[in-house]
Amino acid sequence: PRHVTRGADGALAVAGLDVRDLAAEYGTPVYVLDEDDLRSRCREFRAAFPDADVYYAGKAFLCRAVVRMIAEEGLFLDVCTGGELATALSAGMEPARIGFHGNNKSVTELTRALDAGVGRIILDSFTEIDRLTALARERGVRPKVLVRVTVGVEAHTHEFIATAHEDQKFGFSLAGGAAAAAAFKIIDEGVLELRGLHSHIGSQIFDASGFEVSARRVLSLQAQIRDARGVELPELDLGGGFGIAYTTQDDPAAPHELAKRLRKIVDGECAAENLAVPHLSIEPGRAIVGPAVFTLYEVGTVKSVPLGTGGGAADGRAYVSVDGGMSDNIRTALYDASYSATVANRVSTAEPMLARVVGKHCESGDVVVKDEFLPADVQPGDLVAVPGTGAYCRSMASNYNHVPRPPVVAVRDGRARLIVRRETEADLLALDVG
Ligand code: LLP
Repeated sequence: PRHVTRGADGALAVAGLDVRDLAAEYGTPVYVLDEDDLRSRCREFRAAFPDADVYYAGKAFLCRAVVRMIAEEGLFLDVCTGGELATALSAGMEPARIGFHGNNKSVTELTRALDAGVGRIILDSFTEIDRLTALARERGVRPKVLVRVTVGVEAHTHEFIATAHEDQKFGFSLAGGAAAAAAFKIIDEGVLELRGLHSHIGSQIFDASGFEVSARRVLSLQAQIRDARGVELPELDLGGGFGIAYTTQDDPAAPHELAKRLRKIVDGECAAENLAVPHLSIEPGRAIVGPAVFTLYEVGTVKSVPLGTGGGAADGRAYVSVDGGMSDNIRTALYDASYSATVANRVSTAEPMLARVVGKHCESGDVVVKDEFLPADVQPGDLVAVPGTGAYCRSMASNYNHVPRPPVVAVRDGRARLIVRRETEADLLALDVG
């Protein structure tokens, strides 16, 4: 987070609040959200894309307080399940500013979206076109839709989070002709209002050329639709996926650089195809919330393990066990993601030692930070902060080993506010009705 400082005695403070006080008040592990940081990232995207709609991708992290923050900052919201939709609506998000995604939306979910009057539904299959068409006919409504196009771009990211290569579940294939067929079907049937095309190529992407290729390809489909049906689609959504820095090795592009490159491609391609420039939208999730949060853990045990590579006394690794783990951050185990860690309650002058921050779960893959140098005197009771945990950590948290999920505390101007409370054992037991 942007508003983190080291106090006179070496402890970290965020937005003027000492992490030791936060730990004492809210317990650990705890996700700490620097609210002004999140808000400033919303504003940066809006400033970079002034004439586009910026949809915050709620899957990264969603709760009512965050819905209100992004809405106050002028963002739209992308939801992809009934649960996310319910959260958005209960926070008072204006339905017209919600986009509804997903490759398998149920009849119940689509019905709810129609009844709520969501601004647009992103269609992902022929089955779904028929399903929504039937529901719209029954209700006599004309929902606005986009067609999600699989543009065939191999985004350079982890295989599980790349979404635009051909052999995966999302969208209508461009190369196979399904995308054009979907657009023609919607236009010909005339029940749904086709507003435009959508492309999302993956997540945690650093190389802007993937977006450029994708924009070119969807715009050429747009021209094909115009030529075949005489319809110029007014909107274009280029998806999310903008990468963030998890460690010092990562060097993501700033939103305004990305915007400049995308604008140039879109303008150039539209000129070449003689198309009016469509109204753009983008869907950043991680880049809005990821860097704004750190997880604060307490160290429980420290164990030194020899690595056996012949390096003498220094040839070992310390396993620093914290009071959370893969239940509050699955990304390291699932995607081999890299994070960093720092001792947060004090500064140490001890030598750095190679450490691995691990959790309390019953499997060896329960790693939070694979490799980090921590001071050799790190000990039980120390607090460890892991930055960059705002996206896809709390939202993908589990109750593995019946560990209650941690709370989220928003901090701003020297004040802390609990926005998601800690789960309790009573919460866990409440579901167990056998
Ligand atoms: N739009 C669509 C249609 C998406 O599917 C996604 C993410 C986004 C926008 C937002 O992408 P972002 O800007 O946050 O990268 N759990 C994985 C990431 C999964 C992303 C799924 N879709 C992870 O932890 O890396």
